[in-house]
Amino acid sequence: MELKVTGEGAESYEEVMLIYSGALKQINTKLEILNQEFQHVHNYNPIEHIKSRVKTPGSIAAKLKRHGYEVTLANMVKYCNDIAGIRVICDFTSDIYKIADMISNQSDIHVLAIKDYIAHPKPSGYKSYHMIVTVPVYLSDRIVDTKVEIQIRTIAMDFWASLEHKIQYKFTDVPQGIADELLECANMVSALDDKMLYLNNEIQEIKVEEKRERGGRQV
Ligand code: GTP
Ligand code: MG
Repeated sequence: MELKVTGEGAESYEEVMLIYSGALKQINTKLEILNQEFQHVHNYNPIEHIKSRVKTPGSIAAKLKRHGYEVTLANMVKYCNDIAGIRVICDFTSDIYKIADMISNQSDIHVLAIKDYIAHPKPSGYKSYHMIVTVPVYLSDRIVDTKVEIQIRTIAMDFWASLEHKIQYKFTDVPQGIADELLECANMVSALDDKMLYLNNEIQEIKVEEKRERGGRQV
């Protein structure tokens, strides 16, 4: 990608990408700490796994052009919110909101935007919880609040999204029949998520009851 940046305070592309990669590390560490603490206090992990990536120069340039912007470093920082992207995969829908809250409550994180595609799925059937946040990256001479896109979804939602993404690549226009079936699959995924959450709640209740009975016998 060709980036022409001149003037005082101009940074190189490499320097900017270093900052984005630092921001990803910051968010990753925060999430790992939250997951470990949750395991310690509540005896379970809300996070199944985390994937992160820095957008490639080609994808950044393509996105800027698609939105009608000149491919410059300044435009990329201003208009491209997903240069640093992190995907958090959970077991249950309820975990998604817990993680989103824990992230939002951190004093050095600023939430710039939220898109709740779980409460409001896309017409395709896509479900996920998206946050654009800034996190401070500490450099030798300054602190840079850097944008990171966080996508939080269940394993089932992730399965659907990755498959649908692959199908989108195979067609310029996805045939209506396939789109309809994908939407049907999205509804099946939602039903599965609901059922799994219900089952998990049932299990928790049985465990609490068992504990109470054991406690009662000991007295
Ligand atoms: P982008 O230009 O793609 O970044 O979209 P946006 O800026 O309008 O944001 P949006 O929240 O709609 O989408 C951001 C990201 O969510 C995408 O880059 C995908 O990773 C994911 N996403 C959004 N919609 C879909 C969808 O219908 N299917 C799949 N598989 N992924 C989606
Ligand atoms: Mg994107």
